[in-house]
Amino acid sequence: MCRRFVLFCVILCFKYVALSEWKKPTVFIAILARNKAHTLPYFLTTLENLAYPKDRISLWIRSDHNSDKTVEILHKWIATVKDQYHMINTAFVEGEESYVDEHGPAHWTKERFNHVISLRESALNLARDLWADYFLALDCDVFLTNPQTLNILISKNYTIVAPMLKSEGLYSNFWHGMTDDYYYQRTDDYKPVLNREKVGCFNVPMVHSCVLVDLRKYVSDLLTYNPQQVPNFDGPVDDIITFAIAANRSGVSLNLCNDETFGYVMVPLEQDDKLIMDLDQLTNIKLEILSEEEPLVVSKLLESYISFPEKDTLGFDKIFMINLVRRPERRRRMNLCFDELGLHVSVVDAVDGR
Ligand SMILES: *[C@@H]1O[C@H](CO)[C@@H](O)[C@H](O)[C@H]1NC(C)=O
Ligand SMILES: *[C@@H]1O[C@H](CO)[C@@H](O)[C@H](O)[C@H]1NC(C)=O
Repeated sequence: MCRRFVLFCVILCFKYVALSEWKKPTVFIAILARNKAHTLPYFLTTLENLAYPKDRISLWIRSDHNSDKTVEILHKWIATVKDQYHMINTAFVEGEESYVDEHGPAHWTKERFNHVISLRESALNLARDLWADYFLALDCDVFLTNPQTLNILISKNYTIVAPMLKSEGLYSNFWHGMTDDYYYQRTDDYKPVLNREKVGCFNVPMVHSCVLVDLRKYVSDLLTYNPQQVPNFDGPVDDIITFAIAANRSGVSLNLCNDETFGYVMVPLEQDDKLIMDLDQLTNIKLEILSEEEPLVVSKLLESYISFPEKDTLGFDKIFMINLVRRPERRRRMNLCFDELGLHVSVVDAVDGR
């Protein structure tokens, strides 16, 4: 009697497990990396930490016009993870550091826009050819600190969806207004969404840097980064603006969700900024993260590619930090901040006045 019951239970349980074990949808992640040696160790580690089966993910990575170790880092990382992912498709061009007529690495010339448009378009088309369920366009200065990001975005059932990413000041990866000629417009709706005073998913005129597209929907076939594919196109030659216009004209909404915290995006450099200034941007975003959650981690493999500034006391004889011993968490965070900022600080145990 008892045996029969156990057998019955085993069959039932097995059936239950089998039913709940649908394979996850397949995701094609497109990554463009230029001069990202400083962000890649963090970016690749957060990518690896996403709670999503790697054998359901294809990675498509392109890199060119670098003047740093971007390609070396990518090669090293790919060599160790390639068997885990369904596919890793790469093309790295070495030898050419800049575009003709660019002022510097942060300058977007027409040639650069056209190059990026053609790369993004070929990624999207390859994802379609491979019958990927989802296409994720992901920039290397995005750190998805929430490992559930991909699962959450997929669960929203939108054709196009982006997670709201925090940054410095008022920067983020979405717009809440667009001018008649398709450029950025700040509106009153922006800040409440950015500061999560309004929480949910919002139809906005622009999302970028981390955008998930459901390729199983028929309308997704109309999406493009290429202005030449959009009838009567009257916008600028710009990959993300073209994508937004193509979506809007196809009746597809761009959705931005802030109902969870997902991660961070770095503020991009200004046109004439030097690459070295991006290191400061990285430090800023790491400090921003430290004030809110655990520090960004780097996998063992890539640890040798990160460095912290030489420590000094900013010209003072000494810098002190006074901290209560019973607040070890604050002390730890402050010490991590000092590492980031290169500050040599003497710690004094505070005396509780009570
Ligand atoms: C998304 O679709 C699935 C399957 O049809 C459904 O179970 C789920 O409730 C939907 N989620 C949302 C947020 O609409
Ligand atoms: C397209 O843009 C217009 C103007 O901003 C907006 O009113 C409309 O809702 C957008 N369409 C979709 C599908 O999001």
